[in-house]
Amino acid sequence: MLDFTGKKRCWLYILTGDAKVMEAFCKVCVTGASGYIASLLINKLLAKGYTVHATLRNLKDESKVGFLKSFPQSQQKLVLFEADIYNSVDFEPAIKGCQFVFHVATPLIHEPAL
Ligand SMILES: NC(=O)c1ccc[n+]([C@@H]2O[C@H](COP(=O)([O-])OP(=O)(O)OC[C@H]3O[C@@H](n4cnc5c(N)ncnc54)[C@H](OP(=O)(O)O)[C@@H]3O)[C@@H](O)[C@H]2O)c1
Repeated sequence: MLDFTGKKRCWLYILTGDAKVMEAFCKVCVTGASGYIASLLINKLLAKGYTVHATLRNLKDESKVGFLKSFPQSQQKLVLFEADIYNSVDFEPAIKGCQFVFHVATPLIHEPAL
């Protein structure tokens, strides 16, 4: 008998085109979670049943974390990570295990290179 883990079931979607399988078993990373586009996207992905790994610069900032936690399904399906785009290794734990990444984090003004 075939024993499909969540990751394998997600890839099964890619082979069969079954959206319900994808939504239930795929993990998606969204960067810049507190932003306008990213937060709308996260809400939609959670509503469809995806597990979402979301990154923010500061997990202690309740004004940015609180509304993400208030989305339906966030208790079960939302995992928050701290990451700054000026430190690329920050993103490794968030991206690990995800089949898709939406890189939406955008600095308003780029910091000059050190
Ligand atoms: N808004 C629109 O109508 C629209 C339309 C088309 C395309 N876009 C594009 O979509 C992207 C996002 O736009 P948006 O309107 O959602 O912007 P936004 O609300 O300003 O969100 C940007 C996010 O990027 C994060 N960020 C800033 N600097 C960062 C850094 N150094 N490391 C990690 N994260 C950082 C911010 O997080 P913090 O909370 O930590 O500051 C913020 O949550 C942009 O590329 C924009 O051009 C937007």
